[in-house]
Amino acid sequence: MTSPASPMPDAVPAPQRKKLFIRTWGCQMNVYDSTRMADVLAPLGYGPAETPEEADMVILNTCHIREKASEKVFSDLGRLRLLKTEKEQAGQKMVLAVAGCVAQAEGAEITARAPWVDIVLGPQTYHRLPEMVARASRAAGAQIDTDFPVEQKFDLLPEVNANQGPIAFLTIQEGCDKFCSFCVVPYTRGAEFSRPVAAILAEARRLVAGGAREIALLGQNVNAWHGEAPDGATWSLSRLLYALAEIDGLARIRYTTSHPRDMDDALIEAHGRIPQLMPFLHLPVQSGSDKVLAAMNRGHKAELFYRIADRLREARPDMALSSDFIVGHPGESAADHAATMQLVEKVGFALAYSFKYSPRPGTPAAGQPFQVPEAEKDARLQELQAVLRRQQDEFNRACVGREVDILWTGPGRHPGQIAGRTPWLQPVHAIGPAELAGRIARVRLTAAHPNSLSAVLLEEKELTPA
Ligand code: 5AD
Ligand code: SF4
Repeated sequence: MTSPASPMPDAVPAPQRKKLFIRTWGCQMNVYDSTRMADVLAPLGYGPAETPEEADMVILNTCHIREKASEKVFSDLGRLRLLKTEKEQAGQKMVLAVAGCVAQAEGAEITARAPWVDIVLGPQTYHRLPEMVARASRAAGAQIDTDFPVEQKFDLLPEVNANQGPIAFLTIQEGCDKFCSFCVVPYTRGAEFSRPVAAILAEARRLVAGGAREIALLGQNVNAWHGEAPDGATWSLSRLLYALAEIDGLARIRYTTSHPRDMDDALIEAHGRIPQLMPFLHLPVQSGSDKVLAAMNRGHKAELFYRIADRLREARPDMALSSDFIVGHPGESAADHAATMQLVEKVGFALAYSFKYSPRPGTPAAGQPFQVPEAEKDARLQELQAVLRRQQDEFNRACVGREVDILWTGPGRHPGQIAGRTPWLQPVHAIGPAELAGRIARVRLTAAHPNSLSAVLLEEKELTPA
């Protein structure tokens, strides 16, 4: 952070400049929450730090979804203890906070295992962060706040910092009432909550005014969103998408993460009617076996997923799908796994995330009999990932030679390069001017690499005046 160029002599002194380092694990929602925590702390004088070493405050924004994710937090806390001690010996102070879902689920364990942590706060209490920082700088001992408060954090957080860049995230929904057998989200993020229409549209307009060309709507169960409109009516997600599509300058809209049960007819139809809605949808299915889907409490059969995939592709022929899979849920037999493999072959995915089932304390599946042996989970995961990787490669290779619009986000890795995203979210790089950042320009895709595509620029297509 730099100080103002010419401070006014009688102005209230700016708060002391301090540096904040946030490390974020997990989903896009956590990425969004980290930006909101930075927004909340900015008025206290905190600006971004590049490393924990140069920071006056470090926040670990954590993920509890799988065991590995939460274990990483504890090993990071071990390293930060050394840093904190070194700083204290040099007469400096470092406030250490653990936020996010590990904080929510394991607050007491954190203070027991890592008493050098100053603040533990759950995802619903970020608006209380400034007060907790003030208390932590005075008091000894950890401040813990993992309530699900009655007040809504969205009403109490300051307006979002509008300059997120060409691709912005906007949380419209939080929490989950679905209680899948394996999942901690209903316990860490609480009950489903939908933000009202007016707040979402206002935030979207601010983001676009600040340079966003693409907005990804976020929610743990985003297509279950049902928000109150100013006239008291309740809108569903499709209605909100039509309203967002009217915002001048907003060229691309996405939403994630969806549940198959909430893919209603109007939402599927919207994919054929709203050109700004990108032809790529992340729709976790978890398993292709009806028996396992029932054990997971997913509330639908494989058939529903097949039907949704077909209808989405009818509505929007260039639609590509992404999904999440879990192998080795308790009770999953070899035949159940074969049903998952069959679903993957039949549907075809452009991208997918797959995980070995990991028992999470307090979730129903953790206590179920017939846990699948680790070696069997490993074998199933390998088999699944080989096919998913092949499908991803095929999808990327099939794009080569096509002409597509790219939203340019900034410089590429090499000098003279710019980087951007296709409508299907693939990273793209091409030789081109840095001024293209924030604009959409057409390319021919020329080569597919494991995680990106190369392209040559064809023309610059201006969707709004620069
Ligand atoms: N074990 C393995 N994978 C899990 N996921 C959620 N909980 C677990 C668990 N206990 C996966 C699901 C979900 C994604 C975000 O993480 O596939 O969609
Ligand atoms: Fe977790 Fe299931 Fe809710 Fe998704 S729908 S957040 S997997 S409980």
